[in-house]
Amino acid sequence: MTGLRRILIVEDDHSVRETLITFLRDCEGYEVDEAASTSEAFRLLDNGGYPLVISDVYLDERTGLDILNAAKSANPDCAVILMSGRGSIETVMESTRRGAFDYVAKPFDLDHMLEVVKRAEAAALKSSDEDTDIDDLPVSEMIGSSPTMIEVYKTITKAAPTDATVLIQGETGTGKELVARMIHNYSSRAQQSFVPVDCASIAASLLESELFGALRGAYTGADRDRIGAFEAANNGTVFLDEIGDIDPGFQLRLLRFLQEREIKPLGAARPKRVDVRVIAATNRDLGKLVEDKKFREDLFYRLNVVPIRLPALRERRGDIPLLAIFFLRRANERYSLDARITESGMRSLQEYSWPGNVRQLQHMIERLTILAPQYRIDEEAVLDAIASLSSKENAGESLADTEADQIRKVLAATGGNKSRAAKILGIERKTLYRKLEKMGVA
Ligand SMILES: Nc1ncnc2c1ncn2[C@@H]1O[C@H](COP(=O)(O)OP(=O)(O)OP(=O)(O)O)[C@@H](O)[C@H]1O
Ligand SMILES: [Mg+2]
Repeated sequence: MTGLRRILIVEDDHSVRETLITFLRDCEGYEVDEAASTSEAFRLLDNGGYPLVISDVYLDERTGLDILNAAKSANPDCAVILMSGRGSIETVMESTRRGAFDYVAKPFDLDHMLEVVKRAEAAALKSSDEDTDIDDLPVSEMIGSSPTMIEVYKTITKAAPTDATVLIQGETGTGKELVARMIHNYSSRAQQSFVPVDCASIAASLLESELFGALRGAYTGADRDRIGAFEAANNGTVFLDEIGDIDPGFQLRLLRFLQEREIKPLGAARPKRVDVRVIAATNRDLGKLVEDKKFREDLFYRLNVVPIRLPALRERRGDIPLLAIFFLRRANERYSLDARITESGMRSLQEYSWPGNVRQLQHMIERLTILAPQYRIDEEAVLDAIASLSSKENAGESLADTEADQIRKVLAATGGNKSRAAKILGIERKTLYRKLEKMGVA
């Protein structure tokens, strides 16, 4: 049934070795070889690989980590279980990094060891689930080869060199800002500034000075001249993000600006001409807002000179493997890991609906790269990650051990960077703080 009936046990402590052998061979029926020293173990491993090795960590002048390496090079699929009475965070981390199957603290009870061995067997059964990779991933920041994306690239190519105003629409996380940056980068303004303004996060009362600027003393609190985005981006590009969220009064101001291309900072006597290209984006349906009289029709037409509509990720599922591999490689590089996505894992990724689109996929891959058992992103790992999405925000009451464990691992991988960790975990930063407090870490 499984290929793990042969086990090599490496243990210098005679009584532990004998106990394990008696149990696994006589009671459980495994075929067991034994080594009392690292050199003996190397000799046995040289004669052919084992599907399963159980090794003590502290042996002689060499350690269980050396056994781990030798076992893996003799048989890359070998499951290595390390055991030690002197485990530390460092040895556990190091052994996990090097691909140990599990780490068992001594003293252990035999049932626990058997359970770990059984799990290794179950994992070996899954080894027919091959790793996936893509050799000819396009060298680009922007990934996607589906017909809708090709159309988007064509529009970007045509629009970029012109100064035409572009309106990018698409659900959250579909790559609107990325597209805006590409347009800027492929334009003659590429060497000048690209200034993004998130219209939704700036209070309506401040948007005016944010965009048009204000002179010192123009309003209470204006203790110095404030350069607006349109002036800061002179000769460059202004990216007006979440344009669907601006109020009617400001819509009119913006319309005037697009017609005149002049700014008059608050408190200034005369207007100034500026040369900026405007790219706007929204995840709301602007046409519908116009119909409902919530967005000025004349402004809509001024913005919508070149429309770009980004497809939701679920509308271009064929691109999911490309994106997944792209993000996997990036995360592996960033965290010096070697995680893989299996065929079943890729299928599960491709079947999910991705309400948060590419951004959500990116964060999930990053999380799985760090957290997937054995650094193997298979169906089970993906489904677990998806299931945990819905339970995340409301898990305020009790903090499951596994979750605390995940938080610790992600924080370790990000070098303690909490905003990054929150993104990877798919939770808000304040939720992470709350959870850390519960864990007694904050
Ligand atoms: N086609 C793509 N290829 C590679 N990365 C992408 C692609 N589309 C989006 N991304 C990445 O996904 C993340 C989200 O993209 P972006 O910020 O451009 O989305 P958005 O549409 O502006 O989202 P929101 O509406 O939430 O502001 C970014 O990290 C971006 O680099
Ligand atoms: Mg955005």
